[in-house]
Amino acid sequence: MREKIKDFLAKRGAYYEPSKKKEGEELPYKDKTELDKEAEERSTGIKKGDEALEYFKTRRSIRRFSPEMPDWKIIYNIIDAALHGPLAGNLCNIDIIAIQNKEKIKKISMICAQQSWICEAPIVLAVVRRDTFLLDLYPGEGEKFSIQNAAAATENILMLAHFYGLGACWVESFENEVLHDELGVGSERFVDAIIPLGFAREKPKNVDRRIDDFLYFESFGNRTRPKAPGRGPFTKPF
Ligand SMILES: Cc1cc2nc3c(=O)[nH]c(=O)nc-3n(C[C@H](O)[C@H](O)[C@H](O)COP(=O)(O)O)c2cc1C
Repeated sequence: MREKIKDFLAKRGAYYEPSKKKEGEELPYKDKTELDKEAEERSTGIKKGDEALEYFKTRRSIRRFSPEMPDWKIIYNIIDAALHGPLAGNLCNIDIIAIQNKEKIKKISMICAQQSWICEAPIVLAVVRRDTFLLDLYPGEGEKFSIQNAAAATENILMLAHFYGLGACWVESFENEVLHDELGVGSERFVDAIIPLGFAREKPKNVDRRIDDFLYFESFGNRTRPKAPGRGPFTKPF
């Protein structure tokens, strides 16, 4: 990595030499007794983790909405979550446009390949990205990183919306230049995703994807997990 970029990232807390101490608290390695002691305390965390997994598994794309507008506080929290995803270079190259105007939402639905269901949403969020800084920082990879930052933000929006019991859908089928003009994002920005949001008026079935069909160990194709048991609060070996 070029020195200039290293310095830039280091200042933003996005890169550090492993030999140098990072800002913040450094935690020691834990011994067996300490880990066992913590196991009990962590069972609450495990429960939370299990519940969170359930939320991830029950999130589905929602394309039918009630007309009521959700609480603005919730919308602000959802946007807050979007700004707290992982970011290449720790550069927040994301802006959000919240659209409630019915005529505007109708135009957006037309620009999004005539997906008329979008008009049912009481609010639509547009995730806008700016590539410029990332293009300078990572020549050759800047655009990819910029899109990935926006994708992480979009996923955070979908998940927190689901946590609040709202429905949402990630929409990408649109004519970029037309949407760009409709939302007035200027020459340095791109509309990256459109997210219709509201109270769900449908409940799609959950999807059953089995980990065993997708998981390999050490290299692709190997289904056998290494023998090491792992340590944690689960009482039964897994
Ligand atoms: C990059 C991307 C683009 C998408 N674009 C659209 C879209 O234009 N219209 C739409 O109805 N759904 C769109 N979706 C939602 C997918 O259709 C949906 O996530 C997929 O069918 C899986 O269903 P689920 O979200 O309910 O699990 C998109 C999803 C992603 C990740």
